[in-house]
Formats: sequence, structure tokens, C-alpha cells
Amino acid sequence: MRKPFISANWKMNKTVDETEEFINSFIPMVKDITDVEVLIAPPFTSLQAASRILKTTNIKLGAQNIFYEEKGAFTGEISPAMLLSAGCSCVIIGHSERRQYFMETDEIVNKKIKTARKNGLEVILCIGESLKEREENKTFEVLNGQLTGSLKDISLEGITIAYEPVWAIGTGKTATKEQANEAHEYIRKWLVKNKEGADKLRILYGGSVTPDNTEALMSEPEVDGALVGGASLKPDSFAQIVKNAGEKIRVNNRRMSV
Ligand code: 13P
Repeated sequence: MRKPFISANWKMNKTVDETEEFINSFIPMVKDITDVEVLIAPPFTSLQAASRILKTTNIKLGAQNIFYEEKGAFTGEISPAMLLSAGCSCVIIGHSERRQYFMETDEIVNKKIKTARKNGLEVILCIGESLKEREENKTFEVLNGQLTGSLKDISLEGITIAYEPVWAIGTGKTATKEQANEAHEYIRKWLVKNKEGADKLRILYGGSVTPDNTEALMSEPEVDGALVGGASLKPDSFAQIVKNAGEKIRVNNRRMSV
């Protein structure tokens, strides 16, 4: 069984002080949970402070973006070496907010993934359809296009996929567990058909995940974890999501032992 993976995407929230305060209260809340992998992706400015505190824990540190060149005259951009030196082991690429507000195309996403992987960073690749696309029954077509473009000439090692339907992000409108699983199933089948090692890759759901809906979403066979925005900003609510995600493993273990 794939280990549940819960990731916090803080987006443009939290100063350095707020980051330290969050992490110091969050660590004791999850210290006994070993069956869930946890990652926090704060803003760039908080990475080093977060890394100093997280060093003695199993909690991973991620960035929310990266540039596809290694170094040079690219004002305002951040390279893989900079992320590694700040303590990151992972980077979120292709979030719908970056696609929408910063014109990131699948081609750019593909270049970013290649640079990140070449430098040993793990990647969470975000894909998902808009409300209009869903209403026009184009969900699978959109996912196919994003997977084809973003993963061109890329092997699946070190990659996690986050399915984030744009209409569910920050809206309080979660996809039903059936809707999430249906999209995840499509993604899994696409990966099995087109790439090696698809069974090991984890597919996270993102979009209005809360402590209350985590267990139901995670009860679906193809939902391996969550990418959490708003509900990851408070230590107790994020810790509760992590705990609830572990229930999947505990249920499975109970099933295996009877
Ligand atoms: P919300 O959990 O706030 O809907 O955000 C989801 C998201 O975009 C995570 O990357």
C-alpha cells in the first residue's frame, strides 16, 4: 500500500515569525504519527527558518515554485541549488494559481520538472480542470493534455501528482470522494499506459480539504493523500488532517490482520 502523503501549501501566507510559531506548535501534535508522510511548503522567505526547526523531525520541507534555469540573469527567480541550500527536498510545480496568474503553460511546467529532478528535488505536479471545463465534460481531456505536456520525456521517479480541480480550490466546494476517485483513476490509468512505475506514484487530492472531509476522501482507493491550502494554516487543523489520513493505513492493517 502507498504511504499516505499530506502536504501543506501555504501559498502567500506567513512571515518568518509566523512560520516558526506554527512549526513549533505543530511538531508535538504529530510526533507520534509515523504512518503518514508530511510536507510543509511555506513561502521562499520562510524556508531557511523552517528548515532549521524541521531538521530534527521527519517532516519534509518543500517550495511552492522553482525556475527552470540553473543560474543567471533572471531577476526574481529561484534556482534548484538555492532551494536545496535552504533545506528543501521537494517543490510544487504547475499549481493552478501559477497557471492562471503567471501564465505557466505545460511546456514551462515540463521544463521546471526536468530542472528540479536533474537536481534531485522531488516534485508535486499539480493538474486539474476549471468549472467550465468540468461542465463541458472536458475533465479527462484536460487531464490528458496536462499529463502529456507536463510529463513529456520525464520518468515517474520522485514525482507525486496532485489532482486539484480549480473549482474546488479555496471555495469550500470539495469534490465528492467519488468525483476525486474518478479523476484519480483516470490519472492512474493514463500513467500505467504511458509510463513505468505508475503503481508506486502517489496521487493527492487538493481543493477545500478539511479535517472533516479527509477521512472520507482518503477512504477511496486511488486517493493517496492531500495537498492542503487554507486548512493547513492552523497547526491544530493541519495536524488533525494528518491524523485522519493515517486512518487509511490503520483500517488497512486491521483488514490484513483478520
Ligand atoms: P484550499 O485547500 O485552500 O482549497 O487550497 C487547495 C490548494 O490549492 C492547495 O494547493
